[in-house]
Amino acid sequence: MSASPRPAVVVILAAGEGTRMRSALPKVLHCVAGRSLVEHVVESAAHLSPARVVVVVGHGREQVTAHITEISPWVTTVVQEEQLGTGHAVRVTLAAMGAIEGGPVVVLTGDTPLLTGVTLETLLAHHSATDAAATVLTAVLEDPTGYGRIVRGSDGQVRQIVEHRDADDAVLSINEINSGMYVFDAAQLAAALAQITTANAQGEEYLTDVIAILSTSGARVEAIAASDPTEIMGVNDRVQLAEASALMRDRINARWMRAGVTMVDPSSVWIDVDVDLARDVTLLPDTHLIGPTVIAEGAVVGPGTTLKACEVGERATVRHTWAELAVIGPDASVGPYTYLRPGTMLGARTKAGAFVEMKNASLGEGSKVPHLSYVGDAQIGEGSNIGASTVFVNYDGVEKHTTVIGDQVRVGSDTMLVAPVTIGDGAYTAAGSVITEDVPPGAMAVARAQQRNIEGWVERRRGGTKSAQAAARAKDNPKEDA
Ligand code: UD1
Ligand code: CA
Repeated sequence: MSASPRPAVVVILAAGEGTRMRSALPKVLHCVAGRSLVEHVVESAAHLSPARVVVVVGHGREQVTAHITEISPWVTTVVQEEQLGTGHAVRVTLAAMGAIEGGPVVVLTGDTPLLTGVTLETLLAHHSATDAAATVLTAVLEDPTGYGRIVRGSDGQVRQIVEHRDADDAVLSINEINSGMYVFDAAQLAAALAQITTANAQGEEYLTDVIAILSTSGARVEAIAASDPTEIMGVNDRVQLAEASALMRDRINARWMRAGVTMVDPSSVWIDVDVDLARDVTLLPDTHLIGPTVIAEGAVVGPGTTLKACEVGERATVRHTWAELAVIGPDASVGPYTYLRPGTMLGARTKAGAFVEMKNASLGEGSKVPHLSYVGDAQIGEGSNIGASTVFVNYDGVEKHTTVIGDQVRVGSDTMLVAPVTIGDGAYTAAGSVITEDVPPGAMAVARAQQRNIEGWVERRRGGTKSAQAAARAKDNPKEDA
């Protein structure tokens, strides 16, 4: 296959309202696998290295334009004030662009997230190899309801596209449908658009009418069918959005499994397009990897884990965890039931155990927070252990303060570390202490009331209770080793 010319422009139609989504959000901004519908289309268009990509906006134009600017500043938008049809949309766009030179025009729609760059390359290659005026991407569907039908002549050449609403029974029985994706010769497209009318069931300017105009004038119109018909699937409502998400999930998961990732139950694993996984990663059921999450070789993630924009090191294990913008070092152990908030940095061989919440906190190599603790705004050195139920008291009601803990520190269970406070290398804190002052290296900090036992209190004050009876029995028969 010889190299195809790059398109002069890819036009992405996205001005429609998307009424059936029943949403405050414009349809093309709904997401599949962590990207908006239109971003998926822009991504596949980028495979063709077009000179320009233009998104046609109308309904919700402010939101759509702002989104386009954010995701791909190199893509421009053209406003179609009134949605007078797909032909009108392309006509307005070409008019806004002036002379189009140096390559064909590709037209796509903004609601087809499953379209691949490879399919577009095939379409473009076919177009230039046949020197066609127009090439239509089609699909053969068991149920073609609603789509425009591809009408071919006895010679197999495409004659016209007839919209479902304008079709008679003979045309309705055709299973080859128009995907709404095309490649056009720029000059012939512009000339044909000047001739289209609104004489149809919807009173709109149909882009599809260009096909009959070109064919009648003797120009060559080609059509090729997508090898995978799901690629041309458009999202019109939330049911189709869920279908597209599931198809995308299966596609992404198949790619990662072929790249050496183990998934016990791929139907319950959801991976965004921007995720990067090394080989021999294991993903257990009900795992969601969101945004630019990166997982290194041999790590085991899940079950029941959501990682958003996280980095997981080699051989780390992360179970029943919710983490966002956290770095989990190699051989670290996280979970079960752990909440890692932005700015958590777990070093190599660290542990953040059950019912631990961390935020803006770093844990040096080999340090552990095994159980039931809150660690906020803290720097913890290497080889330190934070006892169960420790709270880093970082908030005085107005401001947040930092706790610094050195290397090889032993924080006793149920310690309150009232920040700002520093615990020196090798220091200990006694269980149940409220630490408000710095602890020098190697010191034991005790900050709690002295214990006092009031002998005989239960018999005197709670006489007759089961506790009093048990106490009396113990007095009569002292335990041998007591
Ligand atoms: C269109 C095709 C149909 C094809 C189907 C594939 C036409 C006339 N028909 O039908 O043959 O089978 O797509 O999905 O083209 N849009 C604008 N401005 C407008 C009108 C539409 O930007 O004035 C955009 C819409 O937002 C949408 C796309 O163009 O993204 C398609 O428009 P829609 O009205 O949904 O066309 P269909 O009836 O689906
Ligand atoms: Ca449509």
